[in-house]
Amino acid sequence: MAVIDSWWARRPTGAGRAALRAYRHLPRSARVHATIRWWSAPFPRIAAFLPTSGRVLEIGCGHGLFSTYAALAGPGRSVVGVDIDADKIALARQAEAQLPGVDLTFRVAESGAVPTGPWDAIVIVDVLYLLPAPAQRALLHQAAAQLADGGQLLVKEMSPRPRWKAAWNRGQETLAVSVLGITEQDAAGRAAPFDFVDPSTMASWLRDAGLWTAQLRLDRHRLHPHHLVIGRVGPE
Ligand SMILES: C[S@@+](CC[C@H](N)C(=O)[O-])C[C@H]1O[C@@H](n2cnc3c(N)ncnc32)[C@H](O)[C@@H]1O
Repeated sequence: MAVIDSWWARRPTGAGRAALRAYRHLPRSARVHATIRWWSAPFPRIAAFLPTSGRVLEIGCGHGLFSTYAALAGPGRSVVGVDIDADKIALARQAEAQLPGVDLTFRVAESGAVPTGPWDAIVIVDVLYLLPAPAQRALLHQAAAQLADGGQLLVKEMSPRPRWKAAWNRGQETLAVSVLGITEQDAAGRAAPFDFVDPSTMASWLRDAGLWTAQLRLDRHRLHPHHLVIGRVGPE
């Protein structure tokens, strides 16, 4: 029963439904991908940690569904999504074009480059595992350096525990990245297998970068071991 309740709670309503509606006119593959992302990733729970207004950057935004949702759910936010995959950014822009008046921009970015802040929040959802651990750490340090006073860095990755969820996720990612080629990796990422760094290690990197940290598991009643690491500038 709890599982059914959890699925029911995940159905898109309000800003979620409006965000998916913006993808309706996109090619079928992008539409399906956006719908799968909505149901498989805990976007509303991540977005709940964003400030209600201010400048928000998403690194590795893919087709842009999280950014689109964040902009619609918080009309006071100015949201920028960047990704190394120009094709995905083109699709994200098509969705954005359906939403006149929403403060939402998509841009192609170079791998490892963090657009200049200050940002009130930077979000990275299911991207870091595609990079080798030293590049993940470097990207997080760069992101931390571009945060405004009181700004926060939200990193949603997959935990290596429980092991069965981590194995399920690894199998799915192998299919998406290595077999179907749905997800782009930069040259360093392609040279190595996925690097699912323990969230506690990521939190320690954020502390090294001068941020206060907190962690939250987001995998209750879910197949994927979703885990959120939050870093904040300034007092706890
Ligand atoms: C699994 S997808 C997640 C997309 C989106 N964040 C979401 O949650 O739907 C990973 C994305 O990271 C992007 N990516 C991979 N390496 C990157 C890098 N070095 N810098 C920025 N984006 C990157 C890929 O192009 C892909 O769109």
